Amino acid sequence: MSLTEAEGAPLAGGRLTAGEGAAQIAQQVVVLDYGGQYSQLIARRVRECGVFSTLLPHHAGPEQVQRLHPIGLILSGGPASVYAEDAPALDPRLLELGIPVLGICYGMQLIARELGGTVEAAEVGEYGRSQLTVHERGRLLADTPTEQACWMSHRDTVFSAPPGFTALASSSASPVAAIESDARRIYGIQFHPEVVHTPYGQQVLRNFLIDICGADGSWSARSVIEEQIERIRAQVGGGRAICALSGGVDSSVAAVLVHRAIGDQLTCVFVDHGLMRKNEAEQVIAAFKDRFHVPLVAVNAEQRYLEKLAGVTDPEQKRKIIGNEFIRIFEEEAARLDGVKFLVQGTLYSDVIESGGGTGTATIKSHHNVGGLPEDLEFELVEPLRTLFKDEVRAVGAELGLPERMVWRQPFPGPGLGIRIVGGEVTKEKLDVLREADAILQDEIRKAGLYRDLWQSFCVLPDIRAVGVQGDERTYGRVIAIRAVTSDDAMTADWARLPYDLLEQIASRMINEIRPVGRVVLDITSKPPGTIEWE
Ligand code: XMP
Repeated sequence: MSLTEAEGAPLAGGRLTAGEGAAQIAQQVVVLDYGGQYSQLIARRVRECGVFSTLLPHHAGPEQVQRLHPIGLILSGGPASVYAEDAPALDPRLLELGIPVLGICYGMQLIARELGGTVEAAEVGEYGRSQLTVHERGRLLADTPTEQACWMSHRDTVFSAPPGFTALASSSASPVAAIESDARRIYGIQFHPEVVHTPYGQQVLRNFLIDICGADGSWSARSVIEEQIERIRAQVGGGRAICALSGGVDSSVAAVLVHRAIGDQLTCVFVDHGLMRKNEAEQVIAAFKDRFHVPLVAVNAEQRYLEKLAGVTDPEQKRKIIGNEFIRIFEEEAARLDGVKFLVQGTLYSDVIESGGGTGTATIKSHHNVGGLPEDLEFELVEPLRTLFKDEVRAVGAELGLPERMVWRQPFPGPGLGIRIVGGEVTKEKLDVLREADAILQDEIRKAGLYRDLWQSFCVLPDIRAVGVQGDERTYGRVIAIRAVTSDDAMTADWARLPYDLLEQIASRMINEIRPVGRVVLDITSKPPGTIEWE
């Protein structure tokens, strides 16, 4: 519900823990996260097999797992060596829950060690693409070829399978790369089935989920809609709810879903801070008012923001002003509505996971506090997306009939164009130039069919001028920087290799169509060392 799509740092108070939100799902598999970089991806891949998954931290005990009544358990990879002093341990009772268990990488090593196999540090690690040779398929590797590529990332290696287990496969550096005991219903693979570099990975997961765990494979993000509608009705009853719309996919989908459930008991508030992209505010208003007939209070606060931002150049101060002003306006509007008890938020599953046990990262920018609402607002939260990953929210949005542009919108920061005018104060004139440049960029990127491939593509307006010559005249024009990145999660990003012809077309349109623009440059910094935004 914050102003961004990278949004959603959930508010504190009376919330469910990561797993509990899904407690009533009929069939689910629990993924225990031992700290591997791919744990969320495992949870997503399981869902792609049509089985709901819940990610729990590795220290969740067997009781917490059992409370969810899962039909299977997956132990994820992890960065640790099973012999490291502070390595997360395996609670042996997890292997006695009466449900099938699959260990992946570190998870398999934990199982092998616990049950009497040999796990040792190998001379050489095995990182990246590897060739897997299958000696016996068993149930786990059914319907996969004898020779197959796979992705490995480990130094410790299983040298012998535990007694009673069959060693199914090996690779050049892993004498035992897959194990199974069908009698005990415990399985392990050294390789990572969840990454695209393991072409039969999804088949192996399916074997585990459908054949071994007996899942019916019928879960889909869409199937959540009806269930959520029921839940929302049960929670809200005859009460009134409010939702701050940002135009981003999360708050939009949450709002439409809640409107489906409780109709006009929901009021949306959309604050147009004047820092949106071209036509964006109009699109949000049209979609919600005209198409979905959601009661909408649209506040045009451009002037108010421009006044507050006048003379401010420090990025953190800008963020603070923009965030505070948003809260003030939202509170004013909420106070105008009688008896609102519920606040709808587009919190996603990744926010829930991250707030439930992150290791604490340094604050590079204060954006997790920006655009969000303070914790002391006295509303009960309605968070219909808190069990879903971003791509699943998009699927729900599409199913609910949200326009394609909203469903597939790239992330856009809460402070909007305000933090893309760098090195100088934010003015209406600069905003208009930046908006036009951004519109050309988006238009060309969409026409080239690249919009969905890019995590973000946008323009930055540094507060400098550059000399040029147009016709016979010397010009001293504004500079526009193009920023386009690919990324999976915004934590790291690579600068996008846009085709030269496309860049030329973009640059020449910007200079020809926007009079104040005299020069266009391209940002070729990845993250790290840069960040995605310039400030
Ligand atoms: P950086 O620039 O830190 O951005 O690499 C990572 C992601 O966060 C977005 N971002 C923000 N989102 N308020 C927001 O809501 C902010 O102040 C803010 N700053 C950056 C950025 O667009 C990218 O998706």
